[in-house]
Amino acid sequence: MARAAIDWAAIRALFPATQRQAYLDTASFGPGPTPVVEAVSSHLEEWSCGTGSWRVWDEVGEVVRARLAALLETESSHIALMPALSAAAGQVAETLPFEPGANIVVGQGEFQSNYYPWVNQQRRGFEIRNVPFVEGRLLVDEFARRVDERTALVAASHVQSVSGFRLDLEGLVDLCRRHDARLFIDATQSLGALRVPTEGIDYIAGAAYKWLLSPRGSAFLYVRPERAAELAPLMPNWKTHDVPYRDYYGPPFEPPPDARRFDLSLAWPVWIGLAAGLELILKLGTKTIEERDLGLAQRFRSGLHGVGLQPAFSEAETSQIVGLRVRDPRGVQESLARNHVVAAVRGEFVRFAFHFFNDESDVERALGALRV
Ligand SMILES: Cc1ncc(COP(=O)(O)O)c(C=O)c1O
Repeated sequence: MARAAIDWAAIRALFPATQRQAYLDTASFGPGPTPVVEAVSSHLEEWSCGTGSWRVWDEVGEVVRARLAALLETESSHIALMPALSAAAGQVAETLPFEPGANIVVGQGEFQSNYYPWVNQQRRGFEIRNVPFVEGRLLVDEFARRVDERTALVAASHVQSVSGFRLDLEGLVDLCRRHDARLFIDATQSLGALRVPTEGIDYIAGAAYKWLLSPRGSAFLYVRPERAAELAPLMPNWKTHDVPYRDYYGPPFEPPPDARRFDLSLAWPVWIGLAAGLELILKLGTKTIEERDLGLAQRFRSGLHGVGLQPAFSEAETSQIVGLRVRDPRGVQESLARNHVVAAVRGEFVRFAFHFFNDESDVERALGALRV
């Protein structure tokens, strides 16, 4: 049976951020939709009145874990709950088994939360090999020049936050497989907008306050089951149990064998918000969202030629985030703002991010503002 057409106008109406402006900055933060705001508000009300149950608030973590697993088409036990991408990268980096002569290969222009945790391993003896960006691109060929039999791990973002450049994930998986190197993917700028395959990837992590529509303070770490036990929990705590909530004091210390061993305590309002954001995303479906987001980005890219501009990358290299190199990025951003278009400047790029609540009018407004 054919799926009923989605009423995008009704979906858009759930996002107050769309009312007064073309909000094209989900790559900085996803604006809170009404269902998320309502879930958080009702929690805050219970919290303030002392009527709620902390246990019920905490158990929302399991709802989120299951929803993240559904998004990644994997099992809940392969997902750890974390407060930030850097916590996920730090967990893997700090406990990565070290052998003399081992190296870590990472893109030089990565967002720092996916860069410093790896560079920090120099103090443990790892050699850090930086992969240069070539005209804003992070290329598998450049990784291939640096990955060898002594590479313990390769770290890269699926989509670069500075520019929207999309990595050749299959190519990198293949390279890591050939050298038996672990692969860590930062999916902060993709999961929620694009489908992210787990096949061949050891760790996938992401902060959830952008494309997954969470308030700030939630993230996840997917760990391929064969890889979980080799990492000790970095910050074990009262949740480091196979059977949570059974006891809170003293021994035994028996971390679960899977990714749940890396869980950290949850900031309840945030996770309650994330559960609602994920519900909305799963209802729409990842394929539908990907088509919508890429479709809007593509419409914008096509329109750029009409205003005498060019997107930075080819269609195969681009994502739902469109980076634009212009002579005066700040001046362009101000002119966009005067026309009620919210876009970011990162490095040499003006960055336009398209999520499913955006529509053609946002694209046209941005193009119109670039024309003047
Ligand atoms: C690629 C990428 N990773 C991670 C983050 C956020 O990192 P953290 O959760 O450590 O603040 C961002 C934020 O812009 C990002 O763009």
